Amino acid sequence: MSQPTIQIVRTTPFSDQKPGTSGLRKKTKVFMQKHYLENFVQSVFNAVQEKFNVAFKEETLVVGGDGRYYNRIAIEKIVSLAVANGFGKVMIGRAGILSTPAMSAVIRRHKALGGLVLSASHNPGGIDADFGIKYNIRNGGPAPENITEAIYQHTLKVSDYRIVDPDIDIDHEHSTTIGNTTVTVFDPLADYTAVMQELFDFGALQKLFASGFKMRFDAMHAVTGPYAHHILEGCLGAPLGTVVNGVPKEDFGQGHPDPNLVYAKDLVDYLFGENAPDFGAASDGDGDRNLILGKNFFVTPGDSLAIIAEYAQRAIPGYKTGLSGVARSMPTSTAVDRVARFYAMQCYETPTGWKFFGNLMDADKCTICGEESFGTGSNHVREKDGLWAVLCWLSILAHTGKSVVEIVEEHWQKFGRSYYQRHDYEGIDSAGANKMMAFLKENLASLVGTSIADTKVNQADDFSYTDPVDGSVSTKQGVRLLLGDGSRIIFRLSGTGTEGATLRIYIERFHQDGGKSDINQILKPLIDAAKEILKLKDYCGVDEPTVVT
Ligand code: G1P
Ligand code: ZN
Repeated sequence: MSQPTIQIVRTTPFSDQKPGTSGLRKKTKVFMQKHYLENFVQSVFNAVQEKFNVAFKEETLVVGGDGRYYNRIAIEKIVSLAVANGFGKVMIGRAGILSTPAMSAVIRRHKALGGLVLSASHNPGGIDADFGIKYNIRNGGPAPENITEAIYQHTLKVSDYRIVDPDIDIDHEHSTTIGNTTVTVFDPLADYTAVMQELFDFGALQKLFASGFKMRFDAMHAVTGPYAHHILEGCLGAPLGTVVNGVPKEDFGQGHPDPNLVYAKDLVDYLFGENAPDFGAASDGDGDRNLILGKNFFVTPGDSLAIIAEYAQRAIPGYKTGLSGVARSMPTSTAVDRVARFYAMQCYETPTGWKFFGNLMDADKCTICGEESFGTGSNHVREKDGLWAVLCWLSILAHTGKSVVEIVEEHWQKFGRSYYQRHDYEGIDSAGANKMMAFLKENLASLVGTSIADTKVNQADDFSYTDPVDGSVSTKQGVRLLLGDGSRIIFRLSGTGTEGATLRIYIERFHQDGGKSDINQILKPLIDAAKEILKLKDYCGVDEPTVVT
């Protein structure tokens, strides 16, 4: 056993370390500043100590990331800080790799105190791109707001941090003892695969592939590659080549690892091409998002969530006793609400961000949940889970013997369709965007009773959420206009961007028309009205979105 020398390094606070929708996200070069990452991690430890009053020497900390540029250096620094802060055990994903859902699974299965995920999710990677760090708590989920706020308060007063010089080989599985800490480099695939095996009928999915079923999974050069190769091609017998772009790269092959119609264009083109396979899917930088495609067909995340909830009990052994409830974030389409109503389940509406689902799941109020931003998941972990959603869809296809298109169209027939789009205006001027939102909020009351796209505005408010489990209140979670015919227009500024501001406008209109109408025609009047109400052009000088999903 080596006895390391603990160094106490004097530092001064940074004023910009307030965690956003999903941890602290900044330009990589911001994180590369001297003391920046160390200050934040020491503040996490300080806040956790204060909030939970734990003895670190009896606790385990898990560390891993999506493999992006700076991942390995950040891991070295975190391990050094964790050993110097006296953790009993530090677990590191081999080569520093751990997808976000796998992190959640590892924390839960190893009863760790928590974990630090290095990722900026779907944001590009590289020295000139983005980096991020997020703390997950004992239930495996993102730290809730009272913890992230405590972390922030500590970042504003941190005056020193503790480090050692551990020098660990993170590329090979092994355990070593440094001072009082056991440092273990472990297989990042093992726990996650075991959880998937517990939930899904791997035999039925093997049969599906053996019957000639064809799919393509695009890992977008990001962290899901190793998981997808192992589970789809290794365990389920999908032909080699099913997984493409399956080796994580520090810059994601210079791509934007966000699995949507814009950034997963190659996959979309392939599924809409002549020799399209039966099924297509993709995942993001850190493996928690998913894109679901059929032959010539895109399943919106809101529909995907509703359909998974509709079939889970019948098609997936892990849910055979039924769902305790479902949940969606406020801007997500209301498709899942109708499934919940049909099956007499509770449906919860939470603010944007996965951290709000954790309490509901811990209290067994919700089994399956999701967001419009290509995130779906269940209580098997406390994060959204890209590959899990893919296995859900494979299970539904295997169980029904139907195609993706048939499944969705039947759903629309039965439940009606939420015609739904999200329009993003990325990189707009922050000052203008803030003024615009302030103007909108000032005028909300006057919008009630007016008519938008031929429908009356019944309610106009800034969404506020009272957690049904602990009673905590989260205010200012997005402006909603709720119309008489059930349509909704929602406005939010992104809490994950790293450059300027990103405005998101979410538009939904419900029709019981079999779902075959032209979505652009149906939504256009609402979109036009939304832009006019915002005075978007006047405040931000833009008129057309950068991304529509
Ligand atoms: C975005 C999504 C949100 C998701 C988050 C983290 O946050 O909209 O649903 O939980 O990324 O993946 P936003 O940038 O809108 O704050
Ligand atoms: Zn992600």
